[in-house]
Amino acid sequence: HYMLKEIFEQPDAIRNTMRGRLNEDEGTAVFGGLNLSPKELRNIRRIVFTACGTSWHSALVGEYLFEELAQIPVEVEYASELRYRNPPMSDDTLVFAITQSGETADTLAALREMKRKGHPTLAICNVVGSSIAQEAEGGIYLHAGPEIGVASTKAYTSQCVALAMLALYFGRLRHLGYADGRRMIEQLQALPDKISEALESNEAVRRIAERYVECDNFLYLGRHFNFPTALEGALKLKEISYVHAEGYPAAEMKHGPIALVDERTPSVFVMPRGFIYDKVMSNLEEIKARGGPVIAVAEKGDDRIRKVADAVVEIPQVDEWLQPLVSIIPLQLLAYHIAVLRG
Ligand code: BG6
Repeated sequence: HYMLKEIFEQPDAIRNTMRGRLNEDEGTAVFGGLNLSPKELRNIRRIVFTACGTSWHSALVGEYLFEELAQIPVEVEYASELRYRNPPMSDDTLVFAITQSGETADTLAALREMKRKGHPTLAICNVVGSSIAQEAEGGIYLHAGPEIGVASTKAYTSQCVALAMLALYFGRLRHLGYADGRRMIEQLQALPDKISEALESNEAVRRIAERYVECDNFLYLGRHFNFPTALEGALKLKEISYVHAEGYPAAEMKHGPIALVDERTPSVFVMPRGFIYDKVMSNLEEIKARGGPVIAVAEKGDDRIRKVADAVVEIPQVDEWLQPLVSIIPLQLLAYHIAVLRG
């Protein structure tokens, strides 16, 4: 299937997205197509990302990255909403349309509305010469190669890498120092191999899919950088296996969704180690207390999780800001295998 092929292309796809854009000597990322000078970009005080579907989830990863690395407030807007809304936006707002195809009608319409209001508009796009790429005033091409599968996989991780490099660049325009930049570049350069390592869990994920293939409802739970991962994991399952799934911030499941938990409703916890691991672990234990099966995406070497989760998929350790790139891999594979097993 094209989707499985594209899931396994991700290490190469992100190598191509990063190619020529990481400048070790200057400890920053470089882009040729933003068409805005460092001085102009320094004066940007707010950013709006507008997108649809999976691209809206990578935009959400971008929000966390920009907050963390560039200290710039970001609004993530569904394009289908933004095109008809009239949010007050200050002059120093930069708008990015995030899109794989560059042809999604709502995203194109939202971009046109933002241009009508005089905001600088850029695109993060995978298809050279597409409508959105042409109408934007500049931007970043993903170079991820054609994505045939309708359910976006390699474009998602390529968008996340592009946004990570962009957050690094904006951060280095402001308060990030050379040493920070160098360290982040080294982590980005190591990322393709980390994703290859995560792909080694394919067989383990297929076995987990066999165990839960009959379930008709899933909860996906994650926090902080892994909240968008939970949303994207749920969307993947919905889109290709037609199984109902909902993504939530892990702590939010107490306020309602926990009522849905029973022995036939698996909860997928995205919980690599991090500063809120203990909080997520207590959310997990609440689910277990209600008899809900728990599938955990956890960091290699995490021996605590095996004592409580019913199934564990291991991912390699990466710093928190890059976890979205790695923690999504098992969820893409889980959606694919459940879809195949359900015919
Ligand atoms: C949907 C696709 O139709 O469009 C999603 O099923 C995709 O996978 C969404 O994320 C947005 O598409 P694009 O090309 O604008 O990223």
